[in-house]
Amino acid sequence: MHFQLSEEHLMIQKAARDFAVNECLPGVIERDELQKFPKEQILKLAELGFMGMMVSPEYGGAGMDTISYVLAMEEISKIDASVSVCMSVNNSLVSWGLEAFGNETQKQKYLTPLAQGKKDGELYIGAFLLSEPEAGSDATSQKTTAEDKGDYYLLNGTKNWITNGNSASVYLVMAQTDASKGPKGINTFIVEKSWPGVSVGAKENKLGIRGSDTHSISFTDVKVPKENRIGEDGFGFKFAMKTLAGGRIGIASQALGIASGAYELSLKYAKERKAFGKEIMHHQAIQFKLADMATRIESSRLLCLKAAWEKDNNIDYTLSSSMAKVFASETAMWAATEAVQIHGGYGYVKEYHVERLMRDAKITQIYEGTSEVQRIVIGRSILQ
Ligand code: CAA
Ligand code: FAD
Repeated sequence: MHFQLSEEHLMIQKAARDFAVNECLPGVIERDELQKFPKEQILKLAELGFMGMMVSPEYGGAGMDTISYVLAMEEISKIDASVSVCMSVNNSLVSWGLEAFGNETQKQKYLTPLAQGKKDGELYIGAFLLSEPEAGSDATSQKTTAEDKGDYYLLNGTKNWITNGNSASVYLVMAQTDASKGPKGINTFIVEKSWPGVSVGAKENKLGIRGSDTHSISFTDVKVPKENRIGEDGFGFKFAMKTLAGGRIGIASQALGIASGAYELSLKYAKERKAFGKEIMHHQAIQFKLADMATRIESSRLLCLKAAWEKDNNIDYTLSSSMAKVFASETAMWAATEAVQIHGGYGYVKEYHVERLMRDAKITQIYEGTSEVQRIVIGRSILQ
């Protein structure tokens, strides 16, 4: 066992850090305030190969490993978690799901442009549509239906809270094809946003990750060709769960980035700000906060990297990705709140960035399975 990043990993980390500082930092406060989708940033990320980082070059991807993905997600999330959630969904939910379980035709048609983040010079990204108004944590309670009509399925229903909802061209949609079969009656379909019967609801006005575009998506008698079903009949729920296990590494890394961004800003501030005749870092109460932040962040990083390493080595990573997600997201929420405290009144205003990190941190405890859901997954695994 060795705890050292390779030269290549360090280069990728630096490329992500430079990208975050040069391309994401300018305008991050305004994008958050105006809820502006970071389209320019995503197009530039695509040029770096970061929208299909782990996809094989055969399908237009960058062919990197999951460790690289964790490193890149951390660096970008330190600055702009609205950019990183878009990147995470496209990489670990949509592209990974298609590469792992799609057939050759589906990969050629959809994965190749998705991995490049572009088609004909225009933004081309995906979204993952599992949640519904009445099926969030209880994800098997799907109400969206896909009726088998012979050579196509007829899709009807509404999905909620969809990240990249308006910007995506391709949706991976979970729907019930046979309610009597329970989870085994769920399938996943590739649906194009431009098809008749697909409609995008209003953008959600959110607490955090305000740049990301979260929408409900409705389907009314949408004809989905049979060849757009992913995998065997009834594979849709397993598809969602297997894909989410990797997605949770992405969100854990996003949380890690938010926490380390908050910590780095706090350390810098504590070295500069003076109170009672000395820099506040010399007050032990502040130093202890920083020490705890550094310790919990390092623990989060190790959990993320372990889950990534397991995934890269074909070891079951369901348990470690849930552990990474619950620990890193709770660390992010706690560390970002402490960061505001360390900044005092300045922490409460936008210019110092930590209030945004605190707002952004909260979602990491909710999406891709709440902290309670991660504990369910961990609990079931350790009891087995
Ligand atoms: N791999 C393979 N199969 C799995 C699996 C996994 N990791 N987890 C469950 N399954 C299978 C089970 O084996 C079972 O199949 P069989 O009937 O053949 O045995 C089937 O799926 C049903 O599983 P459970 O009985 O465990 O289902 P459950 O109703 O108890 O729910 C749950 C389990 C873990 C709570 C699950 O519903 C869950 O993960 N909920 C959270 C949903 C979620 O994470 N949503 C995220 C949406 S995407 C998103 O949020 C993106 C974003 O924000 C950016
Ligand atoms: P509920 O499931 O109703 O949960 C409410 C509370 O009850 C939570 O605290 C939960 O942990 C708790 N709870 C529920 N069941 C249990 C239990 N058995 N034991 C203990 N506690 C329990 N979904 C997608 O499919 N695609 C996306 O791209 C996507 N992006 C999102 C972006 C944003 C900004 C948001 C807010 C959500 C997004 N989601 C997405 C949905 C997200 O995954 C769900 O919100 C999440 O899974 C929780 O579901 P819910 O909101 O219905 O809460």
